[in-house]
Amino acid sequence: MTCIRLKDKTFELFIREEEILQSITTMAARIKADMEGIQPLFISILKGAYMFTGELMRAYDGDCEITFGRFSSYQGTSSQGVIKELVPVLEDVTGRTVILIEDIVDTGLTMKYVIEQLKRKGAADVRIATLLFKPDSLVCDLKPDYIGISIPSVFIVGHGLDYDEAGRCYKDIYKLKEE
Ligand code: IMP
Repeated sequence: MTCIRLKDKTFELFIREEEILQSITTMAARIKADMEGIQPLFISILKGAYMFTGELMRAYDGDCEITFGRFSSYQGTSSQGVIKELVPVLEDVTGRTVILIEDIVDTGLTMKYVIEQLKRKGAADVRIATLLFKPDSLVCDLKPDYIGISIPSVFIVGHGLDYDEAGRCYKDIYKLKEE
C-alpha cells in the first residue's frame, strides 16, 4: 500500500518493514555487546513500543528482565509537553541497569521525565533504545543511546505508532501527507 486513510487524514508510505527490521537487528547486537555480564531490565513504553519490543527482544535473545510502563504526552499530531503517568513501573530498579524501549523520541520530554523518575528511584544506569528519533524536534538535553532510524520532523504512523489510536498495526511506517 502506498497510501492509507486514517480518520480525517491521508498518510503515504515512508519506511518499509525490511528497513525497520534491519535496524532492529543491528541495535540488538549493539545492546547485547554492551550488556555483557549485566542482566538489564528492559522497560517497554506502551503503547507505541509494543511491536518494536517483541522484535527487539527476539533479536536480543539473551538474559534480561522485561516490564512495561505507560506515559502520555501526545494528542492528535502534536506533543502536549505535560507528561502523565498512566501505568507506573512497579519493579524495584535500585542499582539496576535499565534500558527504556521507546517507539520514537520527538521533543524528548517523555524520556527525560521517565529517566529522572528512575534515577530518583535508585537505578544505576538508564539508557534509551528508540526505534525512531526526530533530532530536529528535540527540546531538551537528551541523547538516546541506541537509535534505529533518524527521521525529519514529520508525523508518522504504523509499526506501533498511532494517530489518535488509529494506524498502530501496519507493519510499514507512513507519514502524514500534506494536503
Ligand atoms: P516526546 O515526549 O515528544 O519525545 O514524545 C514521545 C511520544 O510521542 C512517543 O512515545 C509517541 O507516542 C509520540 N509521538 C511522537 N512523535 C510521533 C509521531 O510522529 N507519530 C505518532 N506518535 C508520535
